[in-house]
Amino acid sequence: MYLTREEEDALMGEMGPSLRKAMEILVGLGDIYGAERLIPIESVQVAGVSYKTIGDAGLEWIDDMEGRAKVPAMLNPAGMDRQRWREMGITKDFSAKQLEVLNAYESLGITPECTCTPYYLNGPDKGDHLAWSESSAVSYANSVLGARTNREGGPSALSAALIGKTPEYGLHLDAKRRPTVTVRVEGRLHKADYGALGYLVGRRIGDDIPYFQLSKVPRPDDLKALGAAMAASGSVALYHVENATPEACQYTPPGERITIDTGEIRDVYGDPDGVDIVALGCPHYSDAELRRLAGLLIGREVKRPLWVCTSRTVYERNPDLVQLIEKSGARVFCDTCMVVSPASENYECMMVDSGKALRYVPALCGVEAVLGSMRECVEAACK
Ligand code: F3S
Repeated sequence: MYLTREEEDALMGEMGPSLRKAMEILVGLGDIYGAERLIPIESVQVAGVSYKTIGDAGLEWIDDMEGRAKVPAMLNPAGMDRQRWREMGITKDFSAKQLEVLNAYESLGITPECTCTPYYLNGPDKGDHLAWSESSAVSYANSVLGARTNREGGPSALSAALIGKTPEYGLHLDAKRRPTVTVRVEGRLHKADYGALGYLVGRRIGDDIPYFQLSKVPRPDDLKALGAAMAASGSVALYHVENATPEACQYTPPGERITIDTGEIRDVYGDPDGVDIVALGCPHYSDAELRRLAGLLIGREVKRPLWVCTSRTVYERNPDLVQLIEKSGARVFCDTCMVVSPASENYECMMVDSGKALRYVPALCGVEAVLGSMRECVEAACK
């Protein structure tokens, strides 16, 4: 791999042990995947934030690193709302450890905004190179925004932040962004169906790049749900949707085809009987989703916990919507989500409106999960 003089110096340890470690990680990845060089990036999103998932070993690794992020860098969701962790049922011990993790990242110059929707804060432009970690954010950046990022692990994203560069391979290259399979959907999709569709398609195609032909142009939040679910049930990091996503017009539909009908989609939905918590906001809710939810909750009272997860920035720019939602007894939490927080483990069956949460809540929290539309979730919470 070609390295500039400055990159060589960092790799030799002349800029300190942390930058040497960071360069070793980036060069190691570049060698494995055949990158020819490192390229500058516009921003980084670092995973490996919830103390539930990284534990003491992860905390120690971050604590040992020194230096400052060279590009804007944010974090993936943590294990709790930094301010309202008690309301989530988080213990004091967990909270102390989680705050240590956040402080360790902050001392490296990483903004402690913990979200899987960093594109609502300062969205990248088409063609920008990024080093993002969280699979739904990676999918949205590549597919809906036309930016370019591989799915980074926590250490490689942190290394990219400290160096300001990433190895040029995979989805940074034109040749690796071509669709490989056409997906046709027979019948009309309702708003809630995109998560279920993504859940089915991800299971069928693994890490292929799908080219969707849909009967109607989806909205950005529909695409967010579709991509998040495909990244969870498969490992799809880029997809194209005819007449909707920015790179789709460069391609013709691939010859290999699969068809999904709306009957299969309906079968992904579950029965709300037995649900003891409802959790929305996977990926973190947008302003539009908060607005829609507030409309559904006006004059209602929830009879079981209803959590809504969003970024702190979206929360703070919508105080009226948050107030309307919380008037029903629901809670809007920031910095965290139902999958990476240990608080979910206090429940037995969670209703979600997300194909991604449907896949991960059982796998990572040991809690049963049932899929419903946002409206069905509200009805289940108020029943
Ligand atoms: Fe985001 Fe957590 Fe879902 S990180 S995509 S809300 S699993």
